[in-house]
Amino acid sequence: MRHANDREIWVNLLDRFPHPYTLKDAGEFIELTRELAEEGDREIAVGIEVDGELAGSIGVFPGKDVHARVAIIGYWLGRKYHGRGIMTEAIGLWVDHLFTDSHWMRIEADAFGWNPASGRVLEKNGFVKEGIRRHAVWKDHRPTDAVVYGLLREDRKRHKESNS
Ligand SMILES: CC(C)(COP(=O)(O)OP(=O)(O)OC[C@H]1O[C@@H](n2cnc3c(N)ncnc32)[C@H](O)[C@@H]1OP(=O)(O)O)[C@@H](O)C(=O)NCCC(=O)NCCS
Repeated sequence: MRHANDREIWVNLLDRFPHPYTLKDAGEFIELTRELAEEGDREIAVGIEVDGELAGSIGVFPGKDVHARVAIIGYWLGRKYHGRGIMTEAIGLWVDHLFTDSHWMRIEADAFGWNPASGRVLEKNGFVKEGIRRHAVWKDHRPTDAVVYGLLREDRKRHKESNS
């Protein structure tokens, strides 16, 4: 709650991430992720621990219908931890973990047009910027572009080979 209750975090995420972010919201989110994990659901979230505290999270939302084999990821990290390479590392670990499940053929993330740092952590993990869905998002009372990033298994493999 301490890190999540931050408008600068909220403005870059879907509206299901509340603002203000209360202790009750944090408790409900943790409870929900526990239940989903116990059910073996593919919609899941993991915490990112830094210096012994829960500093952020990465979630996976399975696409629907013909997109069911697409894992859509969303993520955030408390502001005091920004710029230390933490999310770049966390996303790398997480996409490698996701691809151990043969169900997934693609991992996708959409960053809002005003959020280059998010695109950067994706590109640093091999994601390909595929295009811009212009004004696909209504956020913070204004139309916003969604920058679409995709990662296929071969993209990740190529990225790791070129960085080894
Ligand atoms: C986006 C976010 C997850 C990044 O986490 P982080 O741990 O600070 O990221 P890292 O330190 O691993 O990498 C950040 C990269 O973005 C770059 N960056 C930061 N601000 C930038 C800006 N305004 N323009 C361009 N690049 C920027 C950094 O220089 C760094 O790249 P580099 O290593 O090549 O120099 C974090 O800022 C955050 O939680 N933001 C709010 C929520 C959010 O945006 N979630 C993503 C929704 S799609």
